[in-house]
Amino acid sequence: TIPGQYYLDGVLLGSYNPPDGMKALREFDLFEDDCIVAAYPKSGQTWTLELVYLVLHHGTAYERENTARDMRTPWIEWGPVDEERLRNISNIPRPRVFKTHAIAKHLPVQLREKNVKMVFVFRNPKDVAVSYYHFYRMNAVLSRFPGTWSQFYEMFMAGNVAHGSWFDYVQEYWREFKDDKNVLFLYYEDMVKDHAGSVRKIANFLGRNLRDDVVEDIVKRTSFKTMKDNFATRAHKIPFFDENISPFFRKGNVGDWKNHFTVRQNEDFDRVYAEKVAESGFCIDFGE
Ligand code: A3P
Repeated sequence: TIPGQYYLDGVLLGSYNPPDGMKALREFDLFEDDCIVAAYPKSGQTWTLELVYLVLHHGTAYERENTARDMRTPWIEWGPVDEERLRNISNIPRPRVFKTHAIAKHLPVQLREKNVKMVFVFRNPKDVAVSYYHFYRMNAVLSRFPGTWSQFYEMFMAGNVAHGSWFDYVQEYWREFKDDKNVLFLYYEDMVKDHAGSVRKIANFLGRNLRDDVVEDIVKRTSFKTMKDNFATRAHKIPFFDENISPFFRKGNVGDWKNHFTVRQNEDFDRVYAEKVAESGFCIDFGE
């Protein structure tokens, strides 16, 4: 169990996403030029948020002020409804970039009404599970999970973790948005393989034409190492993270699952994956 846990439409959430916050998310006022970055936890969302943010704001005074991550790319549905916080994030300079972990049907109603752009990030679910396990261990809002990897693996496969089943989560997004020109699907593995290409892809999607030196600078500033060390992008003051247990910017590579999955877990996973998503049409690279 995690603090304040409850289920919303079958999806496990904690006290950091209480019912009134989820309702406020649904009713959140968007502008046409907002961009929402949605992802299942541990899919490379922090990285993508920073990429989108820099594509839109590189070189501006707002960007140079080095505002902390929580204000440059705020998580819409964070915490119980706090009018002041909502007002603050409503007033950040446009175009605004928002984070969400909501399942597709919990997204703001205005997303579709106003044709707001959205970026969705996929990551291979074996690495997601491993990354999530370490995050569960270090994060007090996820109970600082004291169990073993194998116990976490069972929870993950059962969808009994915060934000629910990876399988349901990504399939619902894919089904809902795969043909929507306002939604860009990105893959963590592609971003690792072709970082500059991903910057260009995002810029193209958002209608920005970036000079080569700007692309290069964005790549430099969003490298794993730079983001890990950077004041603005690291979660520098998050009191419920214990980075002595596991750092927030942990490894940032593809294939760490091979250091965790047993042969049996891997076979079990491949069988479930084949049953559940093989036909979906999105294409996950497991780094094999
Ligand atoms: P690992 O735990 O495998 O290292 P999210 O931001 O969605 O929570 O995803 C976290 C994962 O993205 C972590 O994976 C983290 O290290 C990785 N990550 C964060 N910033 C990154 C970057 N600039 N480049 C590559 N990976 C990054």
